[in-house]
Amino acid sequence: MVWSRTNQLIAAAAAELGARAEPLGREHTDYFMRLTHGERTAVVSKTRSPFLTQVAQGLANNKHLSRELLRARGLPCAAGVLVDEAGDIHGPAVRELLARHGRLVVKPNWGNRGVGVATDVRDLATLIRARDRARAIDLDEEVLVEPFIAGTNLRVAVIGGRASAAVEVVRPKLATGRSAEAQVAALNRDPRRGTWTAPSLRSMDQIEAEEDLEGHLEVYGLDLEAAIPGEREVEITGEELEVIDRTEVVHPEWLAVAASACDLLGVDVGGVDLRGPMAAFTQPTAASAGAALLLEVNVVPALHLHALPTEGPPRPVFAAFVAYCLQLPGAPPPCAVVRV
Ligand SMILES: Nc1ncnc2c1ncn2[C@@H]1O[C@H](COP(=O)(O)OP(=O)(O)O)[C@@H](O)[C@H]1O
Ligand SMILES: [Mg+2]
Repeated sequence: MVWSRTNQLIAAAAAELGARAEPLGREHTDYFMRLTHGERTAVVSKTRSPFLTQVAQGLANNKHLSRELLRARGLPCAAGVLVDEAGDIHGPAVRELLARHGRLVVKPNWGNRGVGVATDVRDLATLIRARDRARAIDLDEEVLVEPFIAGTNLRVAVIGGRASAAVEVVRPKLATGRSAEAQVAALNRDPRRGTWTAPSLRSMDQIEAEEDLEGHLEVYGLDLEAAIPGEREVEITGEELEVIDRTEVVHPEWLAVAASACDLLGVDVGGVDLRGPMAAFTQPTAASAGAALLLEVNVVPALHLHALPTEGPPRPVFAAFVAYCLQLPGAPPPCAVVRV
């Protein structure tokens, strides 16, 4: 049986550290893996450590609540309005946000991988369609509406409480004048994209247009075949165009923000999503006042982003993960207690 990309990278890092990585049961499942080093053993689930609690996972998955708690501890977090009732979208809070910012982002409060995230919402009709889609995707039918933040995406990997690597994630944007279908086909010809069915150590995945993109386009009143009109900026929020290592250039204060967010939420191995101009992340947090903000803390982070960037050196995040999970000498102690 073939491990997924993530488990292949865990197994390779384990081998380098003199550890063994084995399936947990007789039937192949990617969900669990046993790591063994001498007397030490640890069962991991993808990039979840053996120490992570269900409480921390649930809390981190609730974007609105975790941001509120982190903001109260002084961390710079994006602020949004939680829409959980049918009428709320017409309420004064959302209207005021739209009037003040002009461009909003609508997303499922308990979502991930960018699914159901609309980033070019400038009018009420789009807002309502984006709300409907995000709500249908969200576990609790809760939707977050927040100001659009200009700039790029920074992802910081925190392993055993330590900020270990940072990448800039550039998302594909659909150009005007051509259909989404043709543009996705062109993106998929990129040899750096692999497929789920044949897991390999490629940086990125094939984009499956029919899966999420169709619904995403409907939010903007578009479809796969028609040319994208000039007034739209359609970002494919769940995909990558480039993944650029920025570990050396990110200011230590921003790395500390990411590490603190994980520490407070009890996420011992996390991926922190931040948004803002790249220049803001190279400066102290005070110097970037409000321009760069924390979006969310991910449990089960996609650590392959740091091991297989499209640009810049790979970072040994899987070695750090294995060493932490097995508590090898020099690894940080377990740090998975919710402290907010
Ligand atoms: N406030 C925002 N401003 C601009 N882009 C955003 C904003 N929020 C999300 N995005 C875009 O959507 C992507 C996914 O958003 P995120 O909040 O991380 O949700 P998810 O849990 O789906 O990953 C981001 O990486 C970014 O490209
Ligand atoms: Mg995210």
